[in-house]
Amino acid sequence: MLSDHKNYAYLHGEFVPLENAYLHVSDLSIQRGYGIFDFFKVQEEAPLFLEHYISRFFQSAQLMGLPVPLSEEQLKATLAELLQKNKLPNSGVKMILTGGYSANGYDPAAPNLLITQQALTLPTQEQVARGIKIITHEYVRELPLAKTINYSMGIRLLQEVKARQADDVLYHHGGVVTEFPRSNFFLLTQDNVLVTPAQEVLLGVTRRNVLELARQQYQVQERTVTLEDIAQAREAFMTSTTKRVLPIVEVDGKPVNDGKPGPVTLQLLEQLLELEQKQFID
Ligand SMILES: Cc1ncc(COP(=O)(O)O)c(C=O)c1O
Repeated sequence: MLSDHKNYAYLHGEFVPLENAYLHVSDLSIQRGYGIFDFFKVQEEAPLFLEHYISRFFQSAQLMGLPVPLSEEQLKATLAELLQKNKLPNSGVKMILTGGYSANGYDPAAPNLLITQQALTLPTQEQVARGIKIITHEYVRELPLAKTINYSMGIRLLQEVKARQADDVLYHHGGVVTEFPRSNFFLLTQDNVLVTPAQEVLLGVTRRNVLELARQQYQVQERTVTLEDIAQAREAFMTSTTKRVLPIVEVDGKPVNDGKPGPVTLQLLEQLLELEQKQFID
């Protein structure tokens, strides 16, 4: 997987070749799954919506009781240096903060900050035109407002997702819909109100961008969304940094409306693409 061009990571306060970016086994991320992270896209060498990802990273760290070893300004300068070294025009950057090298495998120590930058796969036009099929599962993440490294439930459910010939799984809580393991959820009601769950969700940066775009043209509500709302929906889609806006055409074997990607979903995707484009031109 290694190309001629060296790919650098940031670890222990320095830039090291990715193949040398190791954490010791005593790190609490390995010992106890204790850590947080964030992930943003780089297009044409420019980070997109960086401020929002940085502030969420600091918020996740605070919710988990992890001090970030760099200030926001220092983190931005470090990211700029990494991007400059790697020169990967279209890629994803992951900032991971772990519980540190614990003396007894439980008590937190000085957190380890690790940053990597790697190539990224985005949905193709065919995937968008096809839309995705999803199943549902009852589960709530422990700290929904924090982007922790714990994706155990999502990863465990991959087998069921595959067995039921689906593409992803939507979490709900007693019939109240929250989010996907790695994306947010939206639906369009029969009377054209765009709705997204308000509680027990990660506040996705793409969710925020889509809400902002949608408010200029539709009625928008952040509120309680139920499985029954999905059964009545005109359109549904997921949002995330890597998926952008991806139409949902089937939920638990039942088509969403006519089972085709909806026009509002596709229009919001176009507008999000324009917004991304604007970021690195401005
Ligand atoms: C639990 C969860 N919800 C939602 C999202 C989508 O957030 P964003 O749009 O910032 O990528 C993510 C991203 O990985 C996530 O992990």
